[in-house]
Amino acid sequence: ATNLTVLGIETSCDETAAAVVCGPAHKKILSNTIRSQIDEHTEFGGVVPEIAARAHIEILDRIVAEAMNEAGCGWDDIDAIAATAGPGLIGGVIVGFMTAKAIAMAAGKPIVGVNHLEGHALTARLTDDLEFPFLLLLVSGGHSQFLLVRGVGDYERLGTTIDDAIGEAFDKTAKLLGLPYPGGPHVEKMAAKGDVSRFRLPRPLLDRPGLDMSFAGLKTALRTQAKKLEPVDEQTIADLCAAFQRSVSDVLAARTRSALDLFRTRHPGVKPAIVVAGGVAANQEIRNSLLAAAEEADARFIAPPMRLCTDNAAMIAWAGIERLRLGPVDDMSLSPRPRWPL
Ligand code: KG4
Ligand code: ZN
Repeated sequence: ATNLTVLGIETSCDETAAAVVCGPAHKKILSNTIRSQIDEHTEFGGVVPEIAARAHIEILDRIVAEAMNEAGCGWDDIDAIAATAGPGLIGGVIVGFMTAKAIAMAAGKPIVGVNHLEGHALTARLTDDLEFPFLLLLVSGGHSQFLLVRGVGDYERLGTTIDDAIGEAFDKTAKLLGLPYPGGPHVEKMAAKGDVSRFRLPRPLLDRPGLDMSFAGLKTALRTQAKKLEPVDEQTIADLCAAFQRSVSDVLAARTRSALDLFRTRHPGVKPAIVVAGGVAANQEIRNSLLAAAEEADARFIAPPMRLCTDNAAMIAWAGIERLRLGPVDDMSLSPRPRWPL
C-alpha cells in the first residue's frame, strides 16, 4: 500500500493528544484531538509531573476514542499505532506508550515508539513539500536546539541551549514580572506596548562561535534591572518584556544565520530550508526575525501551522508513517525513556 493509516498518541508533557493520519502519499490528517492540562497546572506556575501523569490516565481513553470517531475509523482501518516513547515527563510517557502497547496488542497492530523530538523534526514534511536534508530550529518549553535533519533517523544536533530552554526563559521572566503562566504569550502581549530601547539586555554567548545558546543570564540581567526600579509599574514591565523579546530574537536570528552558513558548507548546491517548531514559534517578533535571517541567506523558511508546531499527536502519527515506510517496525519491547537524545 502507498498509504498507511496510523493512530498517534502523545503524552510527554501537559498535552493529552491522539490523532489519525494517513500517508505518506496522501498526507491527510483525519483527526487531531488535543486536551491541554494548562488549567490543572496554572496555580503551581508550571507543569507538575505527578498531576500531569494522573490527568493523562484519566482522559487518554476518551481522547483516543474521539480521534478515532472524528476520523471515521474503526480498528480495521488502522495499520499501526505510534506513540511517544520519550523524551519527556516519564509518568506521562509511560501512560501513553503503555496504553498504545495495549491497544496494539489487542487490535493486533504493530507499534512504533516515536522519539518526541523526531515528531517535531518531521512535521514539516507532513505540511509542506520538503526533501531531506533541512534545518530544524526547535524552540519549546523544554527544548531549544538546531538540528540537521538528513533523513528519517538521521539527525545531527548542531547546537543547543546550555541552560534554560527559550520557552522556559519566557515563562520564568513572566513569573518574575508577575505575569501568568504560561508566560510566553503574556510577555509578547506586554512587549507590544513596551519601549524596546529603554533597557539593554545582553546577547548571551554570541561572542562565541558555534550554535550553542544561553538564556539563563538574560533572565538574571532582567531581574537585576527590575530590582533597581521596584516597585515596577506597568510601563516598566512592558519595556522589560520588549527588551527581553528583542534579545531572544537577536540571538536566534544570529544563530540561524550561522546554521544556514554551516548547512551550505555541509550540503553545497542544496537550497537550505529552515523549519521552526515548538510553542515559542508562535511569537511574531521571533518569527519575523527568523524569516528575515532566512531571506537574507536565500533560504526557505517554513513554519507549520501552530497547532502542529506545538505538542500534538498528528506529528507522532506522521513520524510513525515515515518510519514504517522504510520497513516493518516492532517496538513492543521498547521501554519508555525520560531522556532520549536524537
Ligand atoms: O511546544 P510547547 O507548546 O510545549 C512544550 O514545551 O513542549 O511550548 C510551550 C512553550 C511555553 O514555554 C510557552 O511560554 C511558550 O512555548 N510560548 C511562547 C509563546 N507562546 C507559547 N513563547 C513566546 N511567545 C509566545 N507567543
Ligand atoms: Zn514538544
